[in-house]
Order: sequence, then C-alpha cells, then structure tokens
Amino acid sequence: MKNIADSPFVLEMRKICTLLYSHGWDERNGGNISIILENDKVAEYIDINDIKRSIALESPKPDMAGKILLVTASGSYFKNVYDDPERNLGIIRISDDGASYGIIWGYSGGGKPTSEVSTHILCHGVRLKQDPEHRVVMHCHATNIIAMSFIIPVTDKAFSKALWQTCTESMYVFPEGVGAIEWMVCGSDEIGYATAEKMKDYRICIWAQHGIFGTGKSVDEAFGLIETAEKGAEIYMKIAGHPILQTITDDNLRAIAEHFGLKNARFDFLD
Ligand code: 13P
Ligand code: ZN
Repeated sequence: MKNIADSPFVLEMRKICTLLYSHGWDERNGGNISIILENDKVAEYIDINDIKRSIALESPKPDMAGKILLVTASGSYFKNVYDDPERNLGIIRISDDGASYGIIWGYSGGGKPTSEVSTHILCHGVRLKQDPEHRVVMHCHATNIIAMSFIIPVTDKAFSKALWQTCTESMYVFPEGVGAIEWMVCGSDEIGYATAEKMKDYRICIWAQHGIFGTGKSVDEAFGLIETAEKGAEIYMKIAGHPILQTITDDNLRAIAEHFGLKNARFDFLD
C-alpha cells in the first residue's frame, strides 16, 4: 500500500502547519486543525476498519457519525508536523453512534487528537448543515486578533465592523461578519457548543484572549479567512490610540457589498 504520510491530504496538512507556525500564530503546541476526509480516498492507503484505539467523546456527536477526520495531535508542535507526521497527526473515525472515535492512523507514541476535538467535531457538524462542501476547521493564536479582544467589546457586531473598517478586503472576504465569544476555559464541550452556535451564522469565530477559528471547504478558504481577519486586526492594533482622521465608513461598506453583490452581507451591523 502507498504511504499515507505522503498522500495529498496529509501533505497538505503538513504544509499548512508549517506555514501557520512561520506566521507566529502557533507557538509551542498552540493551534489545531481538522479536515474531513473521503472514506474511499483514505481506504486507498489504510484499512479504515482497523481501529487501533477507541476514545469516548465528552458527549455524543451524532451529526458526525461515521466521518473520518485528519486531526493534529494534542500537544504537537506545528513546527514539527512536517518532519514527523505520524507522531504529530492522526486519522480518526467517529463511531456510528457518534459517542466515540477510533484512531485508525497516527498519534504514534500514544498521542491523541487535539484537546479541542469537541469544538472541531461540533463545528464540522454545524458547518456541514450550512454548506455540504465544508471540510476544514482551523484554530490558531493569531496575535492581533487576541490583542484586539482586550480593547473592543466581545460582540459579533463590534468585531465584524472593526475588521471590515480597517481593511477594504474584509467585507469582500467575510461579508457575513465574524462571531466572537467571551473568554471561557478551553478544551471542553462547553466552549465547543458555544463556538458551534456561532458557526450557524459565521465561518469565523473569535475566542477572546485566546485565538480564532476559521472554517471552509478547503484549507485555502479556512486559512484565507484567518489571514484576512488577522490583517484587519493588525491594522486595528497599529492605529489604536492614534487620532483617526478618516475610515472606511458604513456607506463605503454598503457600497462594497452592493458592488460585489454580497447577498449575505450583514447590513444590520451598519449604521
Ligand atoms: P492542543 O495541543 O491540544 O491542540 O491545544 C492547543 C490549543 O491551541 C488549545 O486551544
Ligand atoms: Zn488554542
């Protein structure tokens, strides 16, 4: 059989982890990614019925029953993923009742999926209902998004408007805005359900004083959302405290949405 570590889907994961690390958004073991794989594609490389270890989920996640996911390992350093994918990544198969998952590849040395696995699985379930082509959930500690969460209200409207107004591209890339949740203890079902609730309306969710989740049909889409939001946040932090002489106005934002026919733009966030 072919080596799954060199399959297009594992290679894509190895490359994006390296890129995220190089941006400085995944210090130490910070960040985690999961990608829904096609069962047939995985079966070209490994026996998808050969469960090496089974682990119970905090609560059943029936929406994702039977799905196969490529997931970064808990505690894995993104800088090491490229050179040692079998230790720092793994493939899991959610059980038919959604109550547990089985490890079918990776996590060598006794590892397991990210501590944010609940959030990932719940977000996938919600996003798939919005978009059947959805595949990727990506979490990282984008520096300026975190900084911004200290100095503006943690609301969907405040974050969305601030990001739209600091970068013309933002309205085009995420016209539906971004979700934002107050600081919570991470690594639990509780934060998972709160994040998944936001994912009913948004592809991005900001975790105050922690980081950001981006989702999409592809690694490019999820990463592109995070990059664009972080760019807006970087500009926001650079201009914070300076006298603002001009900005992208609400009328300007409406004009962008109308010019590009962005039907899902949140006009109700504009004054
Ligand atoms: P993991 O190493 O368990 O993925 O945790 C990293 C992280 O970013 C927690 O939010
Ligand atoms: Zn994190």
